[in-house]
Amino acid sequence: MSKALVLGGQTGLLGQSLVHILTENAWEVTTLGRQDGNLLDMDFLHEQITQKAPDVIFNTIAWTQVDDAEEHEDEALLWNRGLPQAIASIIKGTETLLVHYSTDFVFPGDTTRAYKEDDPTRPLSVYGSSKLAGEQALLGTIPDQCCILRTAWLFGPWRKNFITTILNLCSQRETINVVHDQTGCPTYTPDLARWSMLIAEKKATGIFHAANGGHASWCEFASEAASLAGKSCRVEPITSADWPQKATRPTYSVLDTSKLAACIGETPRPWPQALREYIFTYLPPSQE
Ligand SMILES: NC(=O)c1ccc[n+]([C@@H]2O[C@H](COP(=O)([O-])OP(=O)(O)OC[C@H]3O[C@@H](n4cnc5c(N)ncnc54)[C@H](OP(=O)(O)O)[C@@H]3O)[C@@H](O)[C@H]2O)c1
Repeated sequence: MSKALVLGGQTGLLGQSLVHILTENAWEVTTLGRQDGNLLDMDFLHEQITQKAPDVIFNTIAWTQVDDAEEHEDEALLWNRGLPQAIASIIKGTETLLVHYSTDFVFPGDTTRAYKEDDPTRPLSVYGSSKLAGEQALLGTIPDQCCILRTAWLFGPWRKNFITTILNLCSQRETINVVHDQTGCPTYTPDLARWSMLIAEKKATGIFHAANGGHASWCEFASEAASLAGKSCRVEPITSADWPQKATRPTYSVLDTSKLAACIGETPRPWPQALREYIFTYLPPSQE
């Protein structure tokens, strides 16, 4: 039986799916999060990791508030570079593998082809830069002990996410406006959790792009969710200029997942299939 330590496993959007999938597959799973102590305290982190002695650490903890990061650069760097760097220095030279998560926001999104793992990065935001710094810290410290999964646009059970926000708004309004000039890969956390497990079982290292198949604008993603959930609300397309945000997002950050598919022996299913599973399995039926 393999032992996993899931950072963010008690409360995180991805972390909870990881705990679920790993447990279902007979892994011995422990978690670590902010409720257990200060993870940025090196002595505490060292003691926790040494005590739990995992075969694989899945680190889902990050400063994920993309707009807030613009005004909290130091904190974003502490969580997005400092934490992975600390984990790396603790496990360096041991048998432990670290599976870590990064983002499509490391790319500028100024192209219309899908990004491969070795395409040049150029983040447009503090969040993207801090996540890229985390990748570089890992590759510089434990290149043979880390697997970095760049993912995107997460949705799934047990925590508020884009889809729950959209469906709540749809219940309250006749029309909602959603950005239609940013394109990315909606990704279902239970799927990402399963690919993570498979890749850990292969002991793969390096960078992999991990997202569901196909791509969408936020407006298309929201429209599909509203339609599947039986909402009568109209979903209107708007531009990013009509919806100013503190952080600049890539216009087209679609990820090419062929390296992941070759490694785990399966192609990620299209996002609309995953969205259907999420809405019909985890969300209450619409009363409209
Ligand atoms: N969400 C996306 O759309 C997306 C897209 C691309 C990449 N990613 C990456 O995928 C990974 C998982 O994302 P996620 O959406 O599952 O993350 P999340 O649910 O927002 O947060 C993951 C965990 O991080 C913890 N955390 C956040 N800020 C913290 C802080 N300041 N101190 C201590 N703990 C903190 C959270 O604890 P609390 O519950 O206590 O806040 C939670 O357990 C991250 O590396 C993220 O950068 C996410």
